[in-house]
Amino acid sequence: GIRLTAGLLGASYPRDDHTNITGAVLAKVGSDLHQQPNHPICIMATLMRDHFGPLYTYHDALSPVVSPAANFDSLGFEKDHPGRSLSDSYYINKDTMMRTHTSAHQVELLQKGHRNFLVVADVYRRDEIDSTHYPVFHQVEGVRVFDRGNVEAVDSSNLASGPPNASADNPRQACYTTVDSEAVEWHLKASLEGMVRSIFAAAQQAQGIATTQESELKMRWVDGYFPFTSPSYELEVWYEGKWMEVLGCGVIQQHILEQANLHNSVGWAFGIGLERLAMAFFRIPDIRLFWSQDPRFLGQFSAGKVTHFEPFSRYPSCTKDVSFWLPEAKDGEEGFHPNDLFELVRDVAGDLVEDVKLTDSFVHPKTKRESHCYRITYRSMDRNVTNEEINVLQDQVRQLAPERLDVQLR
Ligand code: PHE
Repeated sequence: GIRLTAGLLGASYPRDDHTNITGAVLAKVGSDLHQQPNHPICIMATLMRDHFGPLYTYHDALSPVVSPAANFDSLGFEKDHPGRSLSDSYYINKDTMMRTHTSAHQVELLQKGHRNFLVVADVYRRDEIDSTHYPVFHQVEGVRVFDRGNVEAVDSSNLASGPPNASADNPRQACYTTVDSEAVEWHLKASLEGMVRSIFAAAQQAQGIATTQESELKMRWVDGYFPFTSPSYELEVWYEGKWMEVLGCGVIQQHILEQANLHNSVGWAFGIGLERLAMAFFRIPDIRLFWSQDPRFLGQFSAGKVTHFEPFSRYPSCTKDVSFWLPEAKDGEEGFHPNDLFELVRDVAGDLVEDVKLTDSFVHPKTKRESHCYRITYRSMDRNVTNEEINVLQDQVRQLAPERLDVQLR
């Protein structure tokens, strides 16, 4: 059979009917932006690492190639969870995929005996194409485990959150005493509010705002849902006139601890995305810039500092439309998913694609067939593109769409 070798850390994997990873994504594997000291992604991760200190072991070199068992099953994802689908995740084959989140390493690290740890890593998701979405991004995961009855007490007097709350929709786990679960919730909230305060202080410094009492950050906790925590929360920060969702977290589901033989333990976990925060802190306008090799980008940042990006001139864009009839829905098939088009455009145009948007859709009154029109914006981060070269790309998109997506061009 055909084997995938490119970039995937030297290993090769047989293809099967699950294989949906493309060359454009494979080409990013091993870039390890989070390990380059002067890169904004690494600067963000390092701020978090420094805040948590040496008590938390730091894991920044775990392979992005994992099993669906690690990424989903070990965490209690439902069998029909949409995250498992071929339209949301990158599969190398049915038993091997690109991790979609750093939580894929929770059980593995607990089994190795770690009790307090941080993971920083590249994660992969099939998604839309615009200035804030890219198929590869970075997360930091944090985990803290205690013995039951011995959860470290925290000073909760200056927390933004009220007392811990749980509800029928976001319940405490019956296996834990209320005292243990509440103590973990307090510890979680204190730890994460502290971390968010310290990283936002670095951003405020970049803006020349002194971090005084008046500049205190406004934060709020909202209920969340994750298959692997309960209760679950999201932390939001009031930033530039809006509530900004910063992280997801919760009390670790007992079945996860049990997989590591931790029968008498209780703990918390969180996951935080780095790109959105880095774009806000460094004022980086387009997510593709993180992948730029241009010294005008990379030369602007240095380890330990949050500084504002000085944009260099934007090169002109070139837009092209493509319209097609969707395939008729057949029983038992996934049918057309916009992510399939996005993936195809990325595969053809790589980082020259800036944005793909659905601009029109309608259903033919007689045939009932559905038509979509997408506007593709092409632009380079570091040079002028010519109309001729973009026409070549657009022709490839038009040629491949009927073959790969079973659509009919209009
Ligand atoms: N893995 C979750 C995500 O990617 C975040 C998370 C991590 C939530 C740990 C709870 C605990 O959205």
